[in-house]
Amino acid sequence: SNVIGILGAIPQEINGIINSLTSVKETVISNRSYYEGFLGEQKVVVVYSRIGKVAAAATVATLLLKFDVCKVVFIGVAGGIGTDVCVGDVVVAKDLIQYDMDASPLRPKFEVPLIGKSYFNSDQELSIAIMDRIKAILSPDNLNELIDSDDLKKFKIKAPKVLFGTIASGDQFVSTNEQRSRLLAELPNALCVEMEGAAVAQVCFEFGIPCVVIRTISDNANHEASFSFQSFVEEVSIVYGREILKTIIEL
Ligand code: ADE
Repeated sequence: SNVIGILGAIPQEINGIINSLTSVKETVISNRSYYEGFLGEQKVVVVYSRIGKVAAAATVATLLLKFDVCKVVFIGVAGGIGTDVCVGDVVVAKDLIQYDMDASPLRPKFEVPLIGKSYFNSDQELSIAIMDRIKAILSPDNLNELIDSDDLKKFKIKAPKVLFGTIASGDQFVSTNEQRSRLLAELPNALCVEMEGAAVAQVCFEFGIPCVVIRTISDNANHEASFSFQSFVEEVSIVYGREILKTIIEL
């Protein structure tokens, strides 16, 4: 097939794109609505998974078993933890790790038992192709047109970057400096934290389906995170989501 599966955790991350689909058919399976439709000529299935690794794993497994998708794109927001990762930047996953997986002393910390891996790669070629397309969206002129100038000021978004690197996932909203420092000490290469990506990457790995994870930074995973996250998700993330997802057509 040439159908692309698109997931986000919450409606605000993917509503922009559901609203732009044509010939939409909704199918409800186990508390999730799967929207089949077209983005231009591209057939897609869009679903929001809800929050956390279990919800994401269950949803992507259902998507892969019930719909004939050949690749998976997960999109959403994340807390920035790498140096110089700022609100408004976009992180495209090179690889993903579950920072709360720990079967030690049986297996090394972070390793998923029996699979024997800690890091799950995204599809590198696809991810790099998408990064190039996202760069065009983030040009200052385009950004000024898309996003309200008050919001650009409020979130101090000036010249957002597209970064390629490690995403750390776990079932925690990281919102204290202590949590953030602990994570960075353990995983100094991680650029951002979120709650689904590595689960999606593990399921896709086991199904042999390529995946891409794209995260816009909504907060800095510190004491201001919940405020920044909530207003970013309400005011800005729909636009980022819609514009980024438009770029995946014909990948
Ligand atoms: N998603 C967005 N911000 C986050 C944070 N600080 N922690 C976990 N997931 C997030």
